[in-house]
Amino acid sequence: MTDITMFTSTLSLTALYSPIVAELRAVEERLLGELYSDLPLINELCAHVQGYGGKMLRPSLLLLAAQACGGIRDAHLTLATVLELIHLATLVHDDVLDQAEIRRNKPTIARMTSNETAVLVGDYLISHAYHLCSSLDKPAVARQVAACTNRVCEGELLQVHTRGQWSLSPELYLEIIRRKTAALTAAATELAATLSDCPVEWCRALHVYGEQVGIAFQIMDDLLDLTGNTVVVGKSLGSDRRLGKCTLPVIHFRRDADPPAWEAIQAWLTGANEQMACDIESAWQAALQETRQTARNHITQAQLALQTLPPTPAREQLQMWADFSIHRQR
Ligand code: IPE
Ligand code: IPE
Ligand code: MG
Ligand code: MG
Repeated sequence: MTDITMFTSTLSLTALYSPIVAELRAVEERLLGELYSDLPLINELCAHVQGYGGKMLRPSLLLLAAQACGGIRDAHLTLATVLELIHLATLVHDDVLDQAEIRRNKPTIARMTSNETAVLVGDYLISHAYHLCSSLDKPAVARQVAACTNRVCEGELLQVHTRGQWSLSPELYLEIIRRKTAALTAAATELAATLSDCPVEWCRALHVYGEQVGIAFQIMDDLLDLTGNTVVVGKSLGSDRRLGKCTLPVIHFRRDADPPAWEAIQAWLTGANEQMACDIESAWQAALQETRQTARNHITQAQLALQTLPPTPAREQLQMWADFSIHRQR
């Protein structure tokens, strides 16, 4: 999981995990057990992926949503493990797509071995996720997990297809991140309620909450890719620019830019100019600020959706996770 030194400006992950520490440990243990193989080579590769130690956002959202819906059951722990396995698989594949060297402060699988091995490790993680998911004895939930994984893949495909389009529309950008990131967080919170046999309004509200948190989380991730520090964030940064991925700061900048400013930012984005031209710096800062505001607006939507649920400490904790997703430094 994480260590107690990981703090954001206002929220510590330790505090965010506090009501679900034991359950998160159980999820980690299941993940470990699930990936065990009789082949030492496979165990070594999986140990590297597990040794990554991520923020456990999706399991945390799922477990807190379950608490908000009356309590955590064994099926929630299984589903949380399934979603973390799917997330891990997407990271391993994504690092191939993005030619990333560092993930969670360690060399990526692709860097450590090869792209071929990384593709297969990602496949292996996905097939383990579905193997475990089939033990849930809830075909409707398993179908929804598969449908959300389809959406994640569609989002990544859409992104690859739109590479180099610096004039990407805000609508298409939103569609990409809604699929590649928010589909999984929405499934985490909605399916927690489904497994608890909650009223349909609760399931819908938790879907909206998870989706809006996922959107805000990816907006901030894209901002960190342009402005963050690799050591703090713990992964390779700058690849969005290098690979021609147009993200929200660029979209906001373009809307107000005159032709010379637009030319100047493109020169920086494509690396033709290493330094950003001084005369566009303040407009760039304004675009970053507007991007933060857009993320905050999505978090407001997420927090509004939570009001459908009865007030509980778990609901409070979900509000805090929403805040964390926009204040995080990693
Ligand atoms: C990284 O997700 C990929 C995105 C959707 C931005 P996380 O930031 O949740 O990754 P880990 O699990 O903490 O490493
Ligand atoms: C990928 O988005 C999100 C996934 C679905 C894996 P990014 O490419 O921005 O994720 P990072 O920055 O590599 O974690
Ligand atoms: Mg990436
Ligand atoms: Mg990123």
